[in-house]
Amino acid sequence: MKLAIYPGSFDPVTNGHLDIVRRGSQLFDHVIVAVSENSQKTHYFSLQDRVEFLKDALKNYPKVTVEHFSGLLANYFRQKKASAVIRGLRAVSDFEYEFQMALMNRRQARNLETVFLMPDERYTYLSSSLVREVSRLGGDVKGLVPNTVQKALRKRILRP
Ligand code: PNS
Repeated sequence: MKLAIYPGSFDPVTNGHLDIVRRGSQLFDHVIVAVSENSQKTHYFSLQDRVEFLKDALKNYPKVTVEHFSGLLANYFRQKKASAVIRGLRAVSDFEYEFQMALMNRRQARNLETVFLMPDERYTYLSSSLVREVSRLGGDVKGLVPNTVQKALRKRILRP
């Protein structure tokens, strides 16, 4: 059974992330979407919210589960006996950071291979940080994030 881990902050999940999950689930027997719990980083949404948004968006995907992890991804990867880590690559600008992470992760766990998937070109410019900014400034993020996220973003603006 080939298990892949798709780690990230997902702050919040976008339709670009969901596109990567869909592609990953066609390649692997099971995909764990692993939300990182990083106490050093301040997130816009709580860990619980980030996990809930993903669970709701992926409830009809039997081959996908949503979990959270803390500490080194390589340790979590070993613990899960996973076969690969999935990351999305949108543009060349993502490459350097992703390349560094993939190699560092492989140094930590020798059998950790990172598989890069490209989202649909509709999502090339899409990122969680842009979604947060556009939403905070009153812009429209319809079609870029799941409906539950859109509602939560709107609620956040009304009651920051
Ligand atoms: O969505 P992001 O913020 O680009 O995801 C980055 C993430 C969570 C995948 C990365 O920061 C990570 O793996 N963090 C866990 C801690 C760790 O293993 N750090 C070393 C990575 S080489």
